[in-house]
Amino acid sequence: MPQQARDERASPFIKWVGGKRGLLEQIRPHLPATYGRLFEPFVGGGALFFDQQPKRATLSDNNARLIATYRGLRDATDEVVWRLQGYRYDRDEYHAIRAQTIDGAPDAAVAAWFIYLNKTGFNGLYRVNSKNRFNVPFGSYTNPNICDEPRLRACAAALQQTNLVLGDFEEVSRKARKGDLVYFDPPYVPVSATSFTSYTAGGFDSEQQVRLRNVARHLASRGVHVVLSNSSARAVIELYQDDFDILELRARRSINAKADGRQAVVEFLMKSRTF
Ligand SMILES: C[S@@+](CC[C@H](N)C(=O)[O-])C[C@H]1O[C@@H](n2cnc3c(N)ncnc32)[C@H](O)[C@@H]1O
Repeated sequence: MPQQARDERASPFIKWVGGKRGLLEQIRPHLPATYGRLFEPFVGGGALFFDQQPKRATLSDNNARLIATYRGLRDATDEVVWRLQGYRYDRDEYHAIRAQTIDGAPDAAVAAWFIYLNKTGFNGLYRVNSKNRFNVPFGSYTNPNICDEPRLRACAAALQQTNLVLGDFEEVSRKARKGDLVYFDPPYVPVSATSFTSYTAGGFDSEQQVRLRNVARHLASRGVHVVLSNSSARAVIELYQDDFDILELRARRSINAKADGRQAVVEFLMKSRTF
């Protein structure tokens, strides 16, 4: 049996742009006191799921490699740990692993590939070219923790009862029933956007934001509890003000490469009027 160095509570095992770890204290008080299942249709690093660890959850995303990573960790934890223990922090090794054809490989291999590149690539970014090839450059770290075994095992344990789904947010959230909680954390509307401009951020344009609002509204009308994050753009107010309560959260975001380049940025949390 592999040794567990320390007893650890689960928390995100990957860095993810837009990760909600730093906002959990502010989000928690706005969740319903009780709910059925938790749905996270834009799961990313899964900060809210790992914080809540509900008995029943459906986690989904439209990034196939990310969902394969969650599945690999849940179903083949030992193999993921073993593979990661064999990887070194080295520029040539990074380029060799990055160049592997990973789609279609077993989930455990995808998970090790994904976690290694996340821990050793520049800023933990996930970025691909037009051929879906991962193209983030090698990152500079003192001693990256490529295989954080206690955390990986804690996450794997938390994931055992979850339903992991690859797909679009609309299709997946349709399964939510009255009393369930759906937390939507989409790519954000650019802060500069007004309702009259068109924009695309992370492939998620104004049309998608409207589609998301319509889905959220429909779920709430069926008695599903909906909580949704987005930026503090004017367009967000216009999208949600009629049917949702809009709260302000303060996020600390890096605005430049220097450690002191951090300042509080306001973002919104929308709540359905079902609780
Ligand atoms: C802001 S991130 C979520 C961050 C996450 N809550 C966390 O704490 O790490 C947005 C996620 O939405 C996913 N995504 C983008 N468009 C989507 C769509 N149409 N359906 C489902 N997921 C989508 C992206 O792959 C990304 O993982």
